[in-house]
Amino acid sequence: MVVGTIKTLIIGASGMLGSDLCKVFPEAVKLTHKELDITNRENVIDCIRKIKPDIVVNAAAYTDVDGCEDRQELAFQVNGYGPGHIAEACSIIGAKLVHFSTDYVFDGSRKEYVESDVPNPINVYGYSKLHGENKIIENIDDYRIIRISWLFGVHGKNFVETMLRLSREMDTVKVVNDQFGKPTYTMDLANKVKEIIELDPGIYHITNEGICSWYEFASDIIDNVIPCTSEEFPRKAKRPRYSVLANTKTEPMRHWKEALKDYLKERNA
Ligand SMILES: NC(=O)c1ccc[n+]([C@@H]2O[C@H](COP(=O)([O-])OP(=O)(O)OC[C@H]3O[C@@H](n4cnc5c(N)ncnc54)[C@H](OP(=O)(O)O)[C@@H]3O)[C@@H](O)[C@H]2O)c1
Repeated sequence: MVVGTIKTLIIGASGMLGSDLCKVFPEAVKLTHKELDITNRENVIDCIRKIKPDIVVNAAAYTDVDGCEDRQELAFQVNGYGPGHIAEACSIIGAKLVHFSTDYVFDGSRKEYVESDVPNPINVYGYSKLHGENKIIENIDDYRIIRISWLFGVHGKNFVETMLRLSREMDTVKVVNDQFGKPTYTMDLANKVKEIIELDPGIYHITNEGICSWYEFASDIIDNVIPCTSEEFPRKAKRPRYSVLANTKTEPMRHWKEALKDYLKERNA
């Protein structure tokens, strides 16, 4: 974004969140995975030095939660060390860094987590993302780490699309009713980033309002859904029972049900 002399760089620009960030920051320099691999420290530093942004927004990550269990090395390279390389480069040129982390840094044994709660991941994805947070904090002071959860957006594979597809393919769709979180629309989040950039450095918890189970979320999307337990639907990576991020630092965003209506309009437009 160029406002006066402010130059923004978006990394991971073709992902689900990255694509909406590109809409909110149309003037930003945008780099896709093909254009910059964040695991290559030298390239990251060279590239950021050449572009000389004032703000770097990193939306790049390895986000396949079950895939991370099999590809731990890749998970740590992309989600752990990659953000550290970006932070190092930002620190060299004096740029602010905005980065996204996850509710999955917590174990889900408590009903809600505030920004200062101590993380305790229970899967490789969560460990790798926590490593990324720590590498950023080690390398730069001027960071905003935004922990987010249960994203849906028109530019990526997401739960809403999975439900719509399964609903067409099956008579009834079983969805777990014992994992709770806060669904979040990537467009709302991308708009909120503008505000967070202006706030103090630190960790932020940003989601749409409203807590639900995956089953309750699905019930707002399709009609032929029935509840089941996590035991009935085993996955490779363990999931936290409560993935509820409490935002104690900024104005709350709207309820996910309102956001979902806009998402459905946008995808059908
Ligand atoms: N989705 C969720 O529900 C959720 C929940 C909590 C937190 N988050 C966090 O939110 C952020 C955005 O997630 P998202 O859902 O938008 O993810 P996404 O759609 O999977 O996008 C991630 C992007 O990162 C790129 N990428 C992967 N490896 C890379 C590398 N080595 N170098 C550069 N780019 C690379 C991917 O490119 P390719 O596809 O070409 O590999 C993709 O464009 C991530 O930090 C994620 O951890 C997501």
